[in-house]
Amino acid sequence: MTRHFLRDDDLTPEEQAQVLDLAVQIRDDRWGRKPLAGPQTVAVIFDKSSTRTRVSFAVGIADLGGSPLIISTANSQLGGKETPSDTARVLERLVSAIVWRTYAQSGLEEMASGTTVPVVNALSDDFHPCQLLADLLTIRDALGTLAGRTVTFLGDGASNMAQSYLLAGALAGMNVRVASPDDFAPDARVVADADAIAARTGGSVELCTDPFGAAAGADVVVTDTWVSMGKEEEKARRIAAMASYKVTPELMALAKPSAIFLHCLPADRGYEVDPEVIDGPQSAVWNQAENRLHAQKALLVWLLEKNAA
Ligand code: CP
Ligand code: NVA
Repeated sequence: MTRHFLRDDDLTPEEQAQVLDLAVQIRDDRWGRKPLAGPQTVAVIFDKSSTRTRVSFAVGIADLGGSPLIISTANSQLGGKETPSDTARVLERLVSAIVWRTYAQSGLEEMASGTTVPVVNALSDDFHPCQLLADLLTIRDALGTLAGRTVTFLGDGASNMAQSYLLAGALAGMNVRVASPDDFAPDARVVADADAIAARTGGSVELCTDPFGAAAGADVVVTDTWVSMGKEEEKARRIAAMASYKVTPELMALAKPSAIFLHCLPADRGYEVDPEVIDGPQSAVWNQAENRLHAQKALLVWLLEKNAA
């Protein structure tokens, strides 16, 4: 069975730790591994906009000796005339892996079930698991450990980032708090999955509506845009509902003095985060953005080795 990475919990806790360790090795020896030598091609498909994901996958695939093929869905058959599974059956004859940023998680599942090459979720409406590998790497770099640390996500609890924090944080044995308005709470099935993972890893999952209580004593404070891609028509309602979840210097001061601030970017300064925080001394967002490269290279190396075994 081909291993894919469609959601954070497609890796076991042990496998997640292996990928993070590999990311550090790869970061320390950036051009030392060439599993895609040939060059083999990796298709990187975008239904939505991207800067970091596009560039970090393109650079990472090239670093690994391969050739990235960046495809915009707008001018391909996928999403219009052709199903994900038919697309997958063609691509597997031509490329070594498929990376896809899309809307519905079900499209990724269909793509993965139709192909023998690994499929990687480069963001869907439900999850952003590649970002979480980078975030966990950044937290480990800054704080030394993951298990037992408290990470507080504030804002859109139903977003891909919040839901990936629930799964990936629980896998890492972290205490994951999500503070959001009731209307923007995470999907109950994702919460149940995260709870079950946390019960095995020693982590915990906590949902609440109080941003200040959630930030108190946290090791990591995280937020993301209140208006994810595809939700633009709800912008006014979202800004009104989430206004009290903005990460201000006052809110950040409730976290531990050693706490770091993370944001996957792009950021709307003045909305979900104040400039004093994202541009301040506790912000680790630029290391976080760089770690996309190292974490995704590690993931590709790991998937290629697993699927060759
Ligand atoms: N964080 C992130 O995925 O950024 P892009 O949308 O620029 O890829
Ligand atoms: N939650 C955001 C993440 C962007 C990288 C979105 O889906 O637009």
